[in-house]
Amino acid sequence: MTATTDQIDLDFVRPHFPGLQSKWAYFDNAGGSQILQGAMDRITEFLTHRNVQIGGTYDTSVAAAEALMAGRKAIQTLVNADRPEEIVFGHSTTALVQILANSMRSQFAPGDEIIISIGDHESNIGPWDRLREFGVEIKFWPIDKKTQKPRLEDLEPLMTDRTRLVCVHHVSNILGQANPVADYARFVHERGAKICVDGVAFAPHRAIDVTGWDVDYYVFSLYKCYGPHNAVMYGKYDLLAELDGQYHYFYGKDKVPGKLEPGNPNYELAYSATGIVDYLVTLGEHEGAQGSARDKILAAYAAITRQEDVLTDRLLTYLRGRNDCRIIGPDSNDGSTRMPTISFKFKGQNSGSVANAVEAYDIAIRFGDFHARRLIEYLGEDGGSGVIRVSMVHYNSAEQVDRLCQALTEITSESTAA
Ligand SMILES: Cc1ncc(COP(=O)(O)O)c(C=O)c1O
Repeated sequence: MTATTDQIDLDFVRPHFPGLQSKWAYFDNAGGSQILQGAMDRITEFLTHRNVQIGGTYDTSVAAAEALMAGRKAIQTLVNADRPEEIVFGHSTTALVQILANSMRSQFAPGDEIIISIGDHESNIGPWDRLREFGVEIKFWPIDKKTQKPRLEDLEPLMTDRTRLVCVHHVSNILGQANPVADYARFVHERGAKICVDGVAFAPHRAIDVTGWDVDYYVFSLYKCYGPHNAVMYGKYDLLAELDGQYHYFYGKDKVPGKLEPGNPNYELAYSATGIVDYLVTLGEHEGAQGSARDKILAAYAAITRQEDVLTDRLLTYLRGRNDCRIIGPDSNDGSTRMPTISFKFKGQNSGSVANAVEAYDIAIRFGDFHARRLIEYLGEDGGSGVIRVSMVHYNSAEQVDRLCQALTEITSESTAA
């Protein structure tokens, strides 16, 4: 059923994001979301009261260490990990996957294989691809052009007893559809390999459950999840313990996760993660949830999903109704598996020109390949400035979507008439 109006209390949600007071309707959230006031407050609080190096015995240093641990614990709850040491902070997903690839390098012998989904953002391809230099074989797992998913039947023939790792996206930042990572993990584990999942385009939209899914590594960016420019990698503790350190030689293998955070994480940004989780807990309470923080987070994501379904359905309905539009990704939202990250092209129109023209309506969207260049080339969508992408989150409104649709109608009819 298509809900017709907002399904979340936007009067509650939007004031948490000071940036939303701007004139813009922000529809470039898969590029970066607005930040929560609560996350900003933690940064200020850290820099005002705790801004020293951790590891000292004086009270300010202890308070700084506590802030870092509070950040890890917040993310532990957010992703449903077993322990805070399973949370590695880094400055971006790209940097964290590179750190992971460097840390795993000695585990690969020449002839070992890594399988990578062609649908991934380059962040979860390039660092692995560079291991070719050490004799590692790289194979690409195709996206089924009909379902636009990486399918197990296409993975199966690629896997051999030399396959050590499979890298895949949870949601493509172009196609917008959630893939069954728990099924992927089970399949990969049954064949003796590990799985590294890029969760960047999933994390702002749905609850993460690394334990339930049994994934080995799961990486995502906090600046797309209502926080500052910072990122997180979850890894199973025993696997992290086996990795080679990237810090000084005297940081032993058992120094998890510190050995994977060379030069230390950014303390104030790590601490700001508590602001993200507090917001989700408060939103869950606002939705009437009781019980543990995790229960409230799940309730918050249920509300987020309801709102996002409204936005997704509204935009997809408009795009499907046009006879000159090709949606890149599923054109429906079966079972709420479609994130509100929607890419498309208009026949005979340059995507860049359309996206730029939308700016005159105070609406921010983007065009291009969004660093999923191999996917865009694989799909043959690289001409005409790539695809137009509208990426929404729960603080966007149905009214904003209507404004966008109206703008797209006006812009494309003007340029057809010209
Ligand atoms: C799906 C996906 N993976 C990875 C990244 C890279 O994230 P970061 O900018 O934190 O390196 C992005 C950024 O757009 C993305 O959309």
